This record gives sequence, structure tokens and C-alpha cells, in this order.
Amino acid sequence: MKKYGYLESGTADSDAWYKESAITDAVKTLQEFGNIPVTGQLDNATLEELTELAKKSKNIHIIEIDLVNTKDYDKIIQIVSEKVGNAGLNILFNNAGISTKFTRLGLVKEEQLTETFFVNTVVPILLTKALLPLLKAASNNFVDKSKMNINRAAIINMSSSLGSITDNTMGGFYPYRCSKAALNAATKSMSVDLKEDGILVTCLHPGWVQTDMGGSNAPMNVDTSVTNILNTLNSLTENHTGCFIQHDGKFLPW
Ligand SMILES: NC(=O)c1ccc[n+]([C@@H]2O[C@H](COP(=O)([O-])OP(=O)(O)OC[C@H]3O[C@@H](n4cnc5c(N)ncnc54)[C@H](OP(=O)(O)O)[C@@H]3O)[C@@H](O)[C@H]2O)c1
Repeated sequence: MKKYGYLESGTADSDAWYKESAITDAVKTLQEFGNIPVTGQLDNATLEELTELAKKSKNIHIIEIDLVNTKDYDKIIQIVSEKVGNAGLNILFNNAGISTKFTRLGLVKEEQLTETFFVNTVVPILLTKALLPLLKAASNNFVDKSKMNINRAAIINMSSSLGSITDNTMGGFYPYRCSKAALNAATKSMSVDLKEDGILVTCLHPGWVQTDMGGSNAPMNVDTSVTNILNTLNSLTENHTGCFIQHDGKFLPW
């Protein structure tokens, strides 16, 4: 199956954790955010809708990509570099993720563990590494070097409250929990490593949301999650780098 990511440069954004029309709504909403690439795959309906939107905006670029093919990252770098130019890249959302159903210890499979770790942990680290020069360029271009925010340069790693070790009272979910806890650890390291560069790094729990992954029983609809996340993104400062927060800005325990 073909996979697609999409890039919004210049004046607006996108966000692949929102499926279907929510993606295009969010693309329209994030008008002021600067250059933002988003990783993730779009289903056919979403792709069609976004393609229509892209036709009306020179700032939306759809990139075909299966993120497990790390050898293709050079292609992403080249496309993103051409699109953002000297402005660099303001925000990288590492959004793509996979989940297994509840997995008891006696039933967990090696393949589930390695596949989930690859998509949820290895991909965000390697994609961040690949796009780092562009993020640094954006950060350097920002006038007030004492500030960190999404208008300067930021990496947002889509995590999950299931990755919280403190909040784990139910057990299970070995592939998902472990991969998101590892992503959280990576987020912390990135925040330390990129502090001098002025790049803000946080991991974000979007809530339990009615997406393909969250399912129809999830308590939160996509619009609520999207609205909360947009407000929270706008409020991020240097106080949030290296932190684990949820959609509404509440800090979560590791
Ligand atoms: N929904 C929730 O309640 C919830 C809660 C906590 C955290 N999250 C996190 O939020 C993020 C988005 O989740 P979601 O709810 O939108 O899940 P989703 O509906 O399953 O969407 C995940 C997206 O990532 C894509 N993806 C997976 N592997 C990929 C690859 N190798 N290359 C490119 N794209 C790939 C998926 O494509 P396919 O559809 O083809 O798999 C899909 O478009 C994930 O990181 C998830 O862990 C979600």
C-alpha cells in the first residue's frame, strides 16, 4: 500500500493524527504556524480531500512515504529543503504510530514488539536526525534567541498516556507501552541535546480520540482534540521542553 506524508510550508499546517476531514480542517486552522512537515499516512478519502486543498494552496505539499523505509529519508530531506528554503523548518510532528490491541504477557509476539518499536520509536528518532539541519536553520533565523516556541523551532513527538510508567495500573500493551515510553525517553534526550540550538522538544498525548486507532468508543472526538492541541501548541515555551504533556496542556508523569 502506498503511504503519504504531507508538508505544509509557509503559511499553514497539517496534522496527520487527525483523520479524514479533521486533517483538512486543521490544515486550514493552523494558518500562522510557518513551515511544518507532518509524518503519517493518509487514507484515500483524506488524500483526496487534502489534494483538493493543496490545489488551492501553494503551501501544501503531499509526499509519498512509508516511514519504515529509512533509506528514502534523503528524498524527504530534498523535497522539504526545496520547499522551505533558507527559512528552515519550524515544526516537525512525529505523528505516525501503530498499536496492537491489549497484549497480555503470555500472548505477546516478537514481531509485534519489533514492528511497533520500529514505527513508534526508531522512525521518530531517525526522521528527527534527518531533518535536524532544517530545524536548526529555522531556529537560527529567529530573532529572539532567548525564547523557545513553535514559531522558532519545535519537535512534537506524538506519544500516549499508555507510555507513562507512573500511570500504568493495568499492565499489558507491551509493544505499545514500551515503544511510547522509549519515545518519551528519546524526547527527553532530544530536549537536552537541542537546548543550545533553541529547539523545543515535547512529547504529546492527544487524548483517547475517535480515530482508527482510538476506536469509536473513545470519549473524545477529533475536533476537541485538535482544538485543544492547537491551543496548547501556541502556548508552548522553554518551560515545556523535555516535558510530557497532553492535548490540553496538562503535564503528565513519566
Ligand atoms: N487515537 C488515540 O486515542 C491516541 C491516543 C494516544 C496516542 N495516539 C497517538 O497519536 C498518533 C496518531 O494516532 P491516530 O489515533 O491518528 O492513529 P491512526 O488513526 O491509526 O493513524 C496513525 C497514522 O500513522 C500512519 N502510519 C503508521 N505507520 C506508518 C508508516 N510506516 N509510514 C507512514 N505512516 C504510517 C497510519 O497509517 P495506516 O492507517 O496505514 O496505519 C495512520 O495514518 C499515534 O502516534 C498514536 O500512537 C493516539
